[in-house]
Amino acid sequence: MKRLLIISLVVLLMAGCSISKEKSAVFPEDEFFLIGHRGASAYVPENTLASFALAEDLGADYIELDIHETKDGKLVVMHDKDVSRTTEGHGNIETFTLDELKSLSIVERKKDKETVLGPSESMAVPTLQEVFDQFGDSLNYVVELKNPSRYPNIEKKLVQQLEENDLIQKDKKGRPRAVIHSFSEKALQRVHKINPDIPLLQLISFDEGEEAELSKKKITKLLSYADGIGVSYEALTPPFVNYMHEKGLAVFAYTVNDPEVALRLQAMGLNGIHTDKPDLVEREK
Ligand code: G3P
Ligand code: CA
Repeated sequence: MKRLLIISLVVLLMAGCSISKEKSAVFPEDEFFLIGHRGASAYVPENTLASFALAEDLGADYIELDIHETKDGKLVVMHDKDVSRTTEGHGNIETFTLDELKSLSIVERKKDKETVLGPSESMAVPTLQEVFDQFGDSLNYVVELKNPSRYPNIEKKLVQQLEENDLIQKDKKGRPRAVIHSFSEKALQRVHKINPDIPLLQLISFDEGEEAELSKKKITKLLSYADGIGVSYEALTPPFVNYMHEKGLAVFAYTVNDPEVALRLQAMGLNGIHTDKPDLVEREK
């Protein structure tokens, strides 16, 4: 009986630990992060080294990038699972080897105008490793697991790559070097199992016109693996943001390109925003 009581106590304590994460433990409370969404994608073709370089120049705290896996198992940076929108090629990424993908020109399609660029070092489909090699610790990273169910083991590969690049740690300002986010709850839970030290953000979409709201059950579940959420900014309200913070969950908003909206969200106490224009608000030098 006594043994059973001790075991129950240990289980309860462990459960308590997993739901008592403090926001401040992961993201410094007084900061408002500007996350360059697919780099500085309002100005330069998204998810290219050139786009990330501009995001860095414009003062982004993090760059956000989307990953997939090639036919020969390499992690590459692209938003869509299909290469057609952003390159001259056609077909799903997993049908291309890395060399084949690298040989594709990037195509910028704006209204009626199509511009073919590269392929060159900065204007091509990058591997995740090339991004880490080029920017090292001059930038921090938010990596999105995109369509993870298409790529068995992509979580394991990503964690391994973050570990190999010493990215599972904080920078000098106490910010996590690398964060993973995804709309896939399962993928994030898999990452959490592989390495519980990686900060995770659950992306959540709400219907147009709907105000953000989460049930107690959902929040308890989130707290068992995630450190925060990423939500479309239109759905956010001050009471919701406060409630998430009280529960120990950080709140990020996507995708904010209007300076007034950015300042309103900052005043609401958000932890940061994803933006295609990392220069949309002035930063203190
Ligand atoms: O910034 C969050 C965002 O990355 C999720 O949407 O479609 O731009 O990857 P998407
Ligand atoms: Ca993304």
